[in-house]
Amino acid sequence: MRYLEDVVLKKWSAAVLAGALAVGALAGCGGDDAGSGDGGGGGGKITMGFSQVGAESGWRTANTKSIQESAATAGIDLKFSDAQGKQENQIKAIRSFIAQRVDVIAFSPVVESGWDTVLKEAKDANIPVILTDRSVDSQDKSLYKTFIGSDFVLEGKKAGEWLVKEYEGKTGDVNIVELQGSPGAAPANDRKAGFAEVIKADPKFKVIASQTGQFTRTDGKEVMEAFLKAHPKIDVLYAHNDDMGLGAIEAIEAAGKKPGTDIKIITVDAVKDGMTALAAGKINYIVECSPLLGPQLMDLAKKVKAGDTVEQRVLTEETTFTQEQAKAALPDRKY
Ligand code: AHR
Repeated sequence: MRYLEDVVLKKWSAAVLAGALAVGALAGCGGDDAGSGDGGGGGGKITMGFSQVGAESGWRTANTKSIQESAATAGIDLKFSDAQGKQENQIKAIRSFIAQRVDVIAFSPVVESGWDTVLKEAKDANIPVILTDRSVDSQDKSLYKTFIGSDFVLEGKKAGEWLVKEYEGKTGDVNIVELQGSPGAAPANDRKAGFAEVIKADPKFKVIASQTGQFTRTDGKEVMEAFLKAHPKIDVLYAHNDDMGLGAIEAIEAAGKKPGTDIKIITVDAVKDGMTALAAGKINYIVECSPLLGPQLMDLAKKVKAGDTVEQRVLTEETTFTQEQAKAALPDRKY
């Protein structure tokens, strides 16, 4: 009988340990004060569970660095999880943060839709959620405390406005190809919509092809190769981020054309590599999207934890860059 109890106890302990390890691994859990949030019964340090989209672009790398460094500076215990571009991984990570009773959950949603259930679970567990960089399309705004990030529709509009000005007074069709971000992602949906809204005022602007390049250089290059084969006359490329634009530049050069001259290029982000290409005349215009969200996110987390009221929407300040402005800004560009 005693032997049987020992066996049962050992099996139970092993199962509990395996479960805890699985949650920790999924959440990319680090540090020695796991679960020290309110519900975990630990000290005063705030614990934040953060689920990142992945590592698809230079922008994302800079964003991750900003969040990790700001958490360290603010004395926040960060449990960082990389979703590798998959919504199901983010949902698992959020559930594991709930199980660990973190103080605050923050995440940058891979796609806009399909978050209501898991956000409701966080709300029922009394864990505040902060959306960073990208929003969700949930109608119930009480499911998250605040959203900090850019206005992606405005970014698309700025791209369109530059184009309209560039072709002012010129006649004849302007054939545009568009490299979209990852399907269903807020910046892909909104940058497309904002751009379309502005250029529709003049029928000479024709989007002759529009396809996803997944926000990556590799896909940007591949899709641009296909565009070049299918369309003998391309005047403009609008890429939803620098990385896809940079991949496309390789394809354009390989096809014997001059990027920035034979094909005008507009991108979004303004990371160092993009700005370098703009300064060199290979890109014509960049709309900035700032990845440096870490410091504001940590401030918001502290406020939310303290029960202070926070704005439902915190907008990121951004600008645009021409070639001359990129040359001037490059020496101080941090990312
Ligand atoms: O959500 C922000 C976007 O995601 C960036 O513009 C893009 O580079 C990234 O992958």
